[in-house]
Amino acid sequence: MTGRDTYIREEAQYIPARSSIGEAGAAFLELSQVGFSYSGKRPAVLSGINLTFAREGITAIMGPNGCGKTTLTKLMVGILSPASGEISLEGRSLQEYTLAQVGRRIGYVFQNPNHQLFCSTVEEEIGFGLTHLGEEPAVVRERVDFYLDYFELSPYRDQFPLNLSYGEKQRLAIAAVLAGEPGFLILDEPTVGLDIYREKLLEEQLHKVAELGRGVVIVSHDNKFVSQVAERIITLENGQVKWDSSWRGNNDHEA
Ligand SMILES: Nc1ncnc2c1ncn2[C@@H]1O[C@H](COP(=O)(O)OP(=O)(O)OP(=O)(O)O)[C@@H](O)[C@H]1O
Ligand SMILES: [Mg+2]
Repeated sequence: MTGRDTYIREEAQYIPARSSIGEAGAAFLELSQVGFSYSGKRPAVLSGINLTFAREGITAIMGPNGCGKTTLTKLMVGILSPASGEISLEGRSLQEYTLAQVGRRIGYVFQNPNHQLFCSTVEEEIGFGLTHLGEEPAVVRERVDFYLDYFELSPYRDQFPLNLSYGEKQRLAIAAVLAGEPGFLILDEPTVGLDIYREKLLEEQLHKVAELGRGVVIVSHDNKFVSQVAERIITLENGQVKWDSSWRGNNDHEA
């Protein structure tokens, strides 16, 4: 075991609470024949997407640049609306939820951290979601301190988030979403800008989130990271699901 492995084990004392949203094993998010294009005149970016995500487990979405991974995740959190087909969250059409209601169920880490950070200090950024949810100040402080320490952002506590380096902004964006302890988490290319050690920290924390019965979807090009974290791998190509490892042993689901 390296010194850094020891650090991860010894320092990672803060254990998030088990997800209390709904029943384990039930479908959480379901996409049925989903299609999307950015303009009615352009060719579809996504078509005929049928995917079901349980409320637990770690799934990776992979595929070449431009195949529609980010578009798919934005549809899954209601930032975009499907042109065809249906998306349901906990059995209800996603269109019946406001973005804030989706946000309380699903934490979303954008591909570009600059699109996510809006507070005036690093500390405020991590605590924002919790404060907004009405958490006690002592709880917010404890969790902010944990994530500042865990992702080695303590020296930047009072700094303006957008002045951080790309990797620091990425860690902050991830910390800010993890701190809200969402029952389900979607991270778009979370390891871009992270070195191997920070990737390891993220991997450990995602495993911990999954052990607590929460679902995680990661979009990634990072084969090594995916092989270490994901139990299920979905591959997109030209806006369609080319392969889903959950098809194995269940041919009824094949496209
Ligand atoms: N806002 C937008 N307006 C018009 N076209 C867009 C927009 N965002 C993405 N696209 C196009 O939609 C397609 C899918 O883009 P998307 O960002 O979903 O791909 P991706 O798989 O996430 O790619 P990457 O691996 O580079 O992140 C691409 O052809 C892209 O150029
Ligand atoms: Mg993308």
